[in-house]
This record gives sequence, structure tokens and C-alpha cells, in this order.
Amino acid sequence: MECGTRAAVKVFEEQWQELPSKPHVKFLLALHSHFDHICGVPLLKEMFPDAQLVASHAASKLMEKEKLVRENFRNDVIVTENYLEKGLLTISPPIDLDSRIVIDLPVGEGDTLLIEPGLELKIIDAPGHSNCSIAAYLEKDQVMFVSDAVGGISSQGVITPMFFQGYEIYMQTIDKLKSYPTKIVATAHGVLASGSSSEELYGPFSAAARKVSHFILEELAAGADEGALAGLLFDRYISDGFKNYPVEMMQGIMQILIRRSKERTT
Ligand SMILES: [Fe+2]
Repeated sequence: MECGTRAAVKVFEEQWQELPSKPHVKFLLALHSHFDHICGVPLLKEMFPDAQLVASHAASKLMEKEKLVRENFRNDVIVTENYLEKGLLTISPPIDLDSRIVIDLPVGEGDTLLIEPGLELKIIDAPGHSNCSIAAYLEKDQVMFVSDAVGGISSQGVITPMFFQGYEIYMQTIDKLKSYPTKIVATAHGVLASGSSSEELYGPFSAAARKVSHFILEELAAGADEGALAGLLFDRYISDGFKNYPVEMMQGIMQILIRRSKERTT
């Protein structure tokens, strides 16, 4: 679940080698196609050559765009450099900027992935973070794998709202996911959220999105400069692993939060 960056896959590979017994990996799930969720695919495919890469239909289309894929890998290279600089990696994994990412199994709302008898994942469309976002529901254990669809949680417990496609559609996705009985919401960044009910679990994610959007609109109404406001949001939300990401890109993402808040209709 989640295909990460090349740097993260190299770290994972070491952990994988230490496992006393290794499960058979049948599927690799990329729950959306942002660079930090998909650039690990070429290395994961080397580790698990028989595994099928699963992603949304929209992600499959996006990965056909050579320019976008190359841009993803360029961002990924910066993450690798930061891992090396911080000593999180000792050797740089080889990179081919022209690598292609082919989705073997495009999926969407209503599809089910059978992992093994009695163990299946329900696929749910989860737009709002990106148009290519899906969630995967493990009904057996009441776990919802959401990737970035509802936000991320820092090690300090700060929720980073991520309505990059649109505010309303993001909130609708949170409401939709909330209707599934859930004990764990597995986000892609930071810590997992666990609790006894969906209401309890998803409430803080929608509250965080409402709060930041409200804050942005209030600041703008009071005459705040958008660049300064983006800087303030950057300082508030860019922590933990995000610090290894390209700074310019993350500043751009804060600008997107501002833009999407201005577009709000509700
Ligand atoms: Fe993302």
C-alpha cells in the first residue's frame, strides 16, 4: 500500500530484508499519482516483479503524460538528495528520468481487490485532494487506507489539510468515507488515526480543513499578502518528512490551499 519515493523504498527494502517471513506481494497500490506516492514504483517493481500496479483510472491516464512523469522524478531526485544529506540513505539509487509508470490494473468506485480468500479491499473514489485519489477499505479490520484524501497528521498531532483539487469535493469525500465503519484511518503522511467510531476519526480532518480555509479567508479579508500568508502556512504545516521535499513545490502547495479557499462556494 502506497508506493512512496525512491528514497523511501530503499529504506523499506532494508526493513523488508530483515523480515523473518515475507508475505507474497500480489498488488502494489498507488492511491494517487502525486510524485511522493508513485515514484517508488520502478524500485518496487524490481523487488516484486510479479506484483500488479493498481491505481485509479485517472492516475493511469496521468501517468501516460511523459512531461508530468519526468517532473515527478525530478522532484523525487531532490528528496533522495535530502535523504543522503541527512544520512537517511548512504547510496543513491539509480534513476532514469525517462522511466515510465504503467498502471497494470486501473480501478474505481465499486471495484474489489481479492488479496486472498476472505481478505479483500474495496476501492472507493476519493477526489478532492486530487482527481486521481482513491481509498481502499479493509472491511475485515475496519481500516480505511486514505492516502492524502483527508489530510496528513504530523508527529506532533497537527493535521495538514490537503484540498488541492477543491474544498467542497474534499469535504464531500470525508463525509463519504465517514459512512464506512472504521477503527483506523491510515493516512500516508505521519501517524495513523485510530478510534472507536468513524465520527470520532474523521471529525478532526474536516475540522482542520474548515479551520484553515476560514483562517485564509479571514486573513485575506483583512488585507493579508498572499505570499506572506503562504509562508505562514508553510511554517505551520511543513514538518517531519515534508521537510525533505522540494521547498518551492511545497510553497506552491500552500498557494493552492489559498486559491482553493478563495474558490469556496459553501
Ligand atoms: Fe498527494
